Amino acid sequence: MLKREKLAHFSHFSHSNLANFASLNLSMFNLILFGPPGSGKGTQSEKLILAYGLKHLSTGDLLRSEIAQQTPLGIEARSFMDKGELVPDEVVIGMISSAIDNNSQTKGFLFDGFPRTPAQAEALDKLLEFKGAPIAAMLSLEVGEEELIKRLVKRGETSGRSDDTNEEIIRARLAEYHKKTTAVADHYKVFGKVVNIKGEGQIDEIFKSLCAEIDARM
Ligand code: AP5
Repeated sequence: MLKREKLAHFSHFSHSNLANFASLNLSMFNLILFGPPGSGKGTQSEKLILAYGLKHLSTGDLLRSEIAQQTPLGIEARSFMDKGELVPDEVVIGMISSAIDNNSQTKGFLFDGFPRTPAQAEALDKLLEFKGAPIAAMLSLEVGEEELIKRLVKRGETSGRSDDTNEEIIRARLAEYHKKTTAVADHYKVFGKVVNIKGEGQIDEIFKSLCAEIDARM
């Protein structure tokens, strides 16, 4: 859709809403990098943002930054993260909403570790719909359970992340993923936006597969 058509589509908005909308980047390209804990979302995000100039929004990183600053949000979040449980939806949705507003001129967002529940997915869709820049695709990294555990146990030897320190918490994170997060893929499947990518093997080969899918949609 051309920029002017997008503006026309929102012409039922009040003049002040339209003025705000006009200041946003209407050609944003937004992606979700999806997958279980340890599937390589963070590793691949670092490479993708360099290649495509996208703004990386990782809710895990945002929460760890709140914890490091000992904010009330961080203190609340830590009690869930240390047990391998998801932080409540309202906390995470508020955080991502501010981050989107603070980066309205970006070329696009790469969401990593968000959305993690159907409620988060619906909230994200609404936020992006209002900006006329929906999710282009959800790239889903597929990695077997034993490989995930092996990677996270190994990372726990050096990462200092409290949720990597023992296998029991790692298994709790995986259980939480199966119980609450896999439904997010079902949400985007309905719109034909889910692309499965083999997440095992060489990091550069996985990156190439991700790039091929992105290039086909840009
Ligand atoms: P978050 O920070 O999102 O962590 P996660 O999903 O558990 O993911 P990880 O960072 O552990 O793994 P990853 O997929 O990024 O893989 P990585 O590239 O690091 O969330 C942490 C917690 O915050 C949650 O448990 C929850 O409490 C809370 N939270 C966050 N978002 C939330 C939300 N939206 N709602 C509610 N709560 C939320 O790789 C892992 C390891 O594998 C690394 O050591 C890496 O070097 C290695 N590796 C990567 N690729 C390969 C490869 N191809 N081969 C071999 N090793 C590899």
